[in-house]
Amino acid sequence: MASPSPDLMSTIVSLCKRRGFIFQSSEIYGGLNSCWDYGPLGVELKRNVKEAWWRSMVTRRRNIVGIDASILMHPKVWEASGHLSGFTDPLVDCKVCKERFRADHLESLEKCPKCGGQLTEVRKFNLMFKTFMGPIEDQSATVFMRPETAQGIFVNFLNVQTASRLKPPFGIAQIGKSFRNEITPGNFTYRTREFEQMEMEFFVPPSEDEKWYQYWKDARFQWYKDYGIKTENLRMREHEKDELAHYAKACADVEYKFPFGWSELEGIANRTDFDLKRHSEFSGKSLAYFDEESKQHYFPYVIEPAAGADRATLAFLIDSYSVEGEGKDARTVLHLHPSLAPIKVAVLPLVKRDGMPEKSEKIYNDLLDNSIKSFYDHNSAIGRRYARQDEAGTPFCVTVDSQSMQDDTVTIRERDTRAQYRVAASSVVEVINQKIKEAQK
Ligand code: GAP
Repeated sequence: MASPSPDLMSTIVSLCKRRGFIFQSSEIYGGLNSCWDYGPLGVELKRNVKEAWWRSMVTRRRNIVGIDASILMHPKVWEASGHLSGFTDPLVDCKVCKERFRADHLESLEKCPKCGGQLTEVRKFNLMFKTFMGPIEDQSATVFMRPETAQGIFVNFLNVQTASRLKPPFGIAQIGKSFRNEITPGNFTYRTREFEQMEMEFFVPPSEDEKWYQYWKDARFQWYKDYGIKTENLRMREHEKDELAHYAKACADVEYKFPFGWSELEGIANRTDFDLKRHSEFSGKSLAYFDEESKQHYFPYVIEPAAGADRATLAFLIDSYSVEGEGKDARTVLHLHPSLAPIKVAVLPLVKRDGMPEKSEKIYNDLLDNSIKSFYDHNSAIGRRYARQDEAGTPFCVTVDSQSMQDDTVTIRERDTRAQYRVAASSVVEVINQKIKEAQK
């Protein structure tokens, strides 16, 4: 197996555009910095990532439920959460070239790292996007685009707990868009100003916080491995005390070895009872939980695994990428996990005649009727068609050939091993479903 291109990031960016995973936003107008659009393959991949997360965090758990809160929330939410005063990055500008930097990312504040010019004083820059609700643009109409989905969960804590009759330990999960006016977005979809989060707040008795913190660190690390990320490209990094967010007692990041270096994929934090207490204080409505057994009210502690759907999607793309073979035989393969792959099966008649297209169409329809995302292709030589599917990450190809027309069998070709075997045409749906199920964690 040849090693991936040294400039892996630009290779991935161009593969994403060529194959319809990810396009630059508003490209025909020159693009909009840090904004990206998911194309036909990308939208399937990201949906599959979110579904894999939801399956593992909600569907398969008896004590975790989901919500879908609105993006715009009462402005007091952000006062209570500390985002209005504390969600800032330190910013400096170069007085000469006008470049803007995060002060905490510079080695020295003496001079501009780009042109050597003088830098401004450090200023605090709030990362929340502001907008106005209603027709009058004054301060009383100011609202914020949420910078994290978590607060929609905290303010609904009692609503959900009462409606679902759950007792700590229990969790509330949410997937949705968040917005941050990042000073230095970049590295493709890694740091953007609009992104999707997958967060779960797990409410526990305060005495059990450390046990659950460890549990979620292990579970979340394992999730990335289960869906195919190589162990050597993953690590867990515990935060130093001076790195901790204002609400956290402890925090660890699952980091991935991106081509630009080890960087955060997901954070697991012990948020203590900070948020529930602050919302109780600011709203005047207690969010304390009433424990039937002890007949006491208490504020549960919160363990929060907070992941990014875009970052996870990018990591799955990068980690699955490989170039196999040499010279003109070299082929690009995305070894995406079958549950994540945008297309599960490609149906390919060997030639465009002798009834093979018709037979293939029938199999293709069967797959679609069974909700298996599939693709039909009868153009060009079979080797080229396999190569196109390898590059899209399709784990299985079904080929209809002259033998199929005699004995009603087809060939299944597996992307990763290139193993080929024959099965009855009528069993394709069953075989593929079984293969996907076996791979699914
Ligand atoms: N509620 C806690 C919280 O929001 P965070 O570490 O700031 O914690 C959680 O964000 C995850 O959201 C990150 O690990 C990352 O995957 C994703 N994320 C955060 N900022 C992002 C950005 N600007 N672009 C893309 N993803 C981002």
